[in-house]
Amino acid sequence: MTDIAERSTAATVDPLLAELRQIVGEAYAVPGVEAPDALIDQRSRYVGRARAVVRPGSVDEVAAVVRLLAREEVPIVPQGGHTSLVGGATPDDSGRAVVLSLKRLDRVRAIDLDNDTITVEAGVVLRRLQDTARDAGRLFPLSLGAEDSCTIGGNLGSNAGGVQVLRYGNARDLTLGLEVVTPSGEIWHGLRGLRKDNSGYDLRDLYIGSEGTLGIITAATLKLYPLPVAQRTAFVKLDSSESVLALFRLAQADFGASLTAFEAISGPAYALVQQRMPEERVPFPAEPNAERWYVLLEISDNESDHHAAERMEHVLEAALRDGAALDALVAQSLAHSQGFWRLRQYALGRAQACDGGIVPHDISLPVSALPDFLRRNEAHLQSRLPGVRVFAYGHIGDGNLHYHIGRPIDQPATYLATHGAEITQIVHDDVVGFGGSIAAEHGVGRSKRDALLRHKSPIELRLMQAIKHALDPAGIMNPGQLLPLNAPADGATGRSALLNPRGSSPIHSS
Ligand code: LAC
Ligand code: ZN
Repeated sequence: MTDIAERSTAATVDPLLAELRQIVGEAYAVPGVEAPDALIDQRSRYVGRARAVVRPGSVDEVAAVVRLLAREEVPIVPQGGHTSLVGGATPDDSGRAVVLSLKRLDRVRAIDLDNDTITVEAGVVLRRLQDTARDAGRLFPLSLGAEDSCTIGGNLGSNAGGVQVLRYGNARDLTLGLEVVTPSGEIWHGLRGLRKDNSGYDLRDLYIGSEGTLGIITAATLKLYPLPVAQRTAFVKLDSSESVLALFRLAQADFGASLTAFEAISGPAYALVQQRMPEERVPFPAEPNAERWYVLLEISDNESDHHAAERMEHVLEAALRDGAALDALVAQSLAHSQGFWRLRQYALGRAQACDGGIVPHDISLPVSALPDFLRRNEAHLQSRLPGVRVFAYGHIGDGNLHYHIGRPIDQPATYLATHGAEITQIVHDDVVGFGGSIAAEHGVGRSKRDALLRHKSPIELRLMQAIKHALDPAGIMNPGQLLPLNAPADGATGRSALLNPRGSSPIHSS
């Protein structure tokens, strides 16, 4: 049987492609095979196929494309900067879906300085949004590793977090209004700039974090903040994860809302940078002691550079005096501070790639539970998979860790493929046991969908499925992401068995 993707490259043009071209113009709809970058995910774990990749240039064109695809019951995969770490914007390999790229919707529609808001379209790259706000004398605080290429639409679809959540919250907390194209191709004009609006169910918050499964976010009205007058960054060495929390308490008590980042790096993750990337400059030489932790903290000050420097010095002196910190360095220049951030945002990930890869986890726990979780899970891992190495680091002020597991040093890279599922189960079981989440800031996508079925309560899953069914009854929006694609149907209603507590479904099997 000839598949759809191949057929579209043949002399006769796929009639659907021809209709898409009528809406968006010849250049902006191509067969999937002609847009290979749209078909492979950021971590190169999923390679999909698509019937077409379409790039509308306006919200009206998005709506018209969705109406066409809804009529034909063609699955739609919304895509922004394609930086999802959970395969959330990559089509499956059936070749049935159309990838709908939002990248041409890249206008800044309005800035309202009195209301402290900016309204942008979904395809605006996060870095450009930050720069636009700064040029207007304001801060847009969302900041994360992929900011040079991720788009605000994807950030909202996945409720992105990043390094300033501690002070400003996740993408959801930064959003006042949305414009959304529904799965039937209607446009919901919800671009309200209101900080108080208790006028019914909060559809805005429902769409944020829905990962393209309920509709397509095409624009957003976002909060702006005052630009800080000065910032100070420090790098601190500590003797244990308990000391990390002691420093966090001290910093929170003293800096209050000025504490804008508190990032931690475990000893093994830090040491790996020196081992695999000896050319990278690190603030302190790595030590063999695996109990060591390192913290990058940043304060934003509304008075002056001098004031920021004094406050930072005061807190670090107290931390060194009472033993919470072993050593501390305050950045003395922008380049120095950028060096600290480079280690956190770039070198850690690069070193793990050079080491032969890792099994990644994006977890969150109550901050108070972190030390016990770390010890307990390390023990569980070592008893079942001796020699695996835990590289933990991340936004510890939010209880969010990137908890990555590397192979035992004497094992080949294939070890992780063989043991990955077992590793993840050991990690996730402890995360849930300690009251945490297995999907903290990167979303569920397809890579955590099945784990979600194991760990979320049946009632939560049924409610989620009910929402999905109500908003996208034909199931065309990003199918197979976040929720299972083929949950057994309940013949009478066509609904998934997840809606029926007595039906058989994967959630009851473990
Ligand atoms: C980070 C990304 C992976 O914090 O979330 O490094
Ligand atoms: Zn992160």
